[in-house]
Amino acid sequence: MNGRDNAAVRAFFDARAAKWDETCPHDPAKLQIIARLCCLVPGAAVLDVACGTGVMFGPLLAHGAESITGIDLSPNMVAEARKKWSGEPRVRLLTGDALDLGMPGFDLAVIYSAYPHFPDREALARAMARCLAPHGRFLVAHSESRAAINGRHHSPPVQAVSTTLRPAAQEAPVWEPFFALDTLIDTPELYVLSGTLR
Ligand SMILES: C[S@@+](CC[C@H](N)C(=O)[O-])C[C@H]1O[C@@H](n2cnc3c(N)ncnc32)[C@H](O)[C@@H]1O
Repeated sequence: MNGRDNAAVRAFFDARAAKWDETCPHDPAKLQIIARLCCLVPGAAVLDVACGTGVMFGPLLAHGAESITGIDLSPNMVAEARKKWSGEPRVRLLTGDALDLGMPGFDLAVIYSAYPHFPDREALARAMARCLAPHGRFLVAHSESRAAINGRHHSPPVQAVSTTLRPAAQEAPVWEPFFALDTLIDTPELYVLSGTLR
């Protein structure tokens, strides 16, 4: 994937949405660790960027999120999230490109298991900065190693809609103009990049 190709990304995830939770399971213990690393303030308003079927919603609510706005490019992924979460008043779902979101005031923007699908990292960092309240945080996370993620993204259909996940230390300079970074994890178990809006 070289540039922004929303139609291809949308088609890829729309086609996989119905079976997404079955085919892409997540370690619940690691989701809890990632939610803890979000350092949610009491009453936090959370933006879950590229939320898919909403795998992070439960852990975020359990760690004190007062509201979650999930946005995803794929209508079918959002439809799956809606099936699971329509009864939860703290969850709101939007279909669209997170880079175009003009909704300020969130305390946290989390990008879980989706970062490689944003080829223009600088545009993502800028969009997240625009959506956050003063002192708001962003958190990019994966519950697997970088090697595992890049390995899975190697097959041609996935390669067409994703980019290589670089070492966290190499991604950091993209975020530093907007955020004071305080967390860089790049281990065989977790990948996390996080910080507070400057
Ligand atoms: C690998 S899935 C992960 C979904 C979810 N976070 C999870 O962990 O199950 C990546 C998601 O990113 C979404 N996505 C990609 N580019 C996007 C964009 N520009 N704006 C919003 N969502 C996007 C896709 O539609 C897809 O649902």
